[in-house]
Amino acid sequence: MMLNELKIGDIRAKLPIVQGGMGIGVSLSNLAAAVANEGGIGTISGVQIGFREPDFLIDPVRANLRAIAKEIKKAREKTKGIIAMNFMAVMNNYELYVKKAVEEKIDLIVSGAGLPLALPKLVKGSNTKIVPIVSSAKAARIIIRSYLKSDRLPDALVVEGPLAGGHLGFKMDELLSNKSMALKDIVKEVKLLLKTFEEEYKVKIPVIAAGGIRTKEDILSLKEAGADGFQLSSLFVPTVECDAHENFKLSYINSSEEDIQIIKSPVGMPARAIKTNFLIEAEEKSKIKKCYKCMPNCNPSEIPYCISEGLLNAVEGRDGLVFSGVNLNVNKLSTVKEVINSLIG
Ligand SMILES: Cc1cc2nc3c(=O)[nH]c(=O)nc-3n(C[C@H](O)[C@H](O)[C@H](O)COP(=O)(O)O)c2cc1C
Repeated sequence: MMLNELKIGDIRAKLPIVQGGMGIGVSLSNLAAAVANEGGIGTISGVQIGFREPDFLIDPVRANLRAIAKEIKKAREKTKGIIAMNFMAVMNNYELYVKKAVEEKIDLIVSGAGLPLALPKLVKGSNTKIVPIVSSAKAARIIIRSYLKSDRLPDALVVEGPLAGGHLGFKMDELLSNKSMALKDIVKEVKLLLKTFEEEYKVKIPVIAAGGIRTKEDILSLKEAGADGFQLSSLFVPTVECDAHENFKLSYINSSEEDIQIIKSPVGMPARAIKTNFLIEAEEKSKIKKCYKCMPNCNPSEIPYCISEGLLNAVEGRDGLVFSGVNLNVNKLSTVKEVINSLIG
């Protein structure tokens, strides 16, 4: 299949495939570098990235800042390709972490789960590109209007549809009744919105479509809708290169479509995850033993379970919170190269 390279400012990805950020610890330097080595863009998740540092439980902020630098360095040692970093705008100390990644000369910051309005200020004076994640043209408009106040535009947009894994920018009832707008239609709306800004400011703002991309046909149909790039995450989990524990990968291989459900995340947003025992038990009885202080306004006595604990358990191979997109249909471990070949031939 012939696909054009993905141009984001002066960055050129030979392959318009972006591996989406997966926290906690699912996409670190190993997976990101493997995708970058294939000519795509690899994304390191910055969410609680310091979880393997010895002082993480005592001083998570310091551990996270140190780990941001370490993972970027490790990725650079493994690839000369393009590396992005993903941060959730809703997290505590978000600005501190983004600044650290910019200081370490990350190529792009990709950011959603909340409006990433501070990005222009955080990358000022650097060559780091800013790529907000949106799920509607309305959110894209709010972000663009805000960036223009700093004389800036986003360098690209990730448009994430309702079939993605992890947190979703859609209403719970619409997701449950399959009434959310389809990714293809959101891409068309966002392209239309961008056209006016692109003409006025003589720039090109590429759109990277994300959520539920599984086949060549999915890519072709999104290309037709106007997408310039294609972000995939779930398909990269059951690969040798993925940074998560083998048990995390196995839960992808062993789960069927009915096991993947919409849940209400403690973040306050709907999310898509595999129904693990952790989730079932959390609904019945929740006892939060430790607060990781990852989010503002989170009251451990009011939430069903601790999101950091769930994600950390999972990535380290214990029963926990395993985010996943729809329709996985994978029954064996593969490699990043195989996943990419199966998509673009
Ligand atoms: C295990 C997992 C963890 C994720 N974590 C994050 C995250 O930390 N930040 C984020 O912006 N998106 C996160 N996502 C969303 C993905 O980056 C991506 O946009 C989406 O899952 C793409 O859809 P796909 O998984 O169907 O390919 C996560 C997705 C998965 C499957």
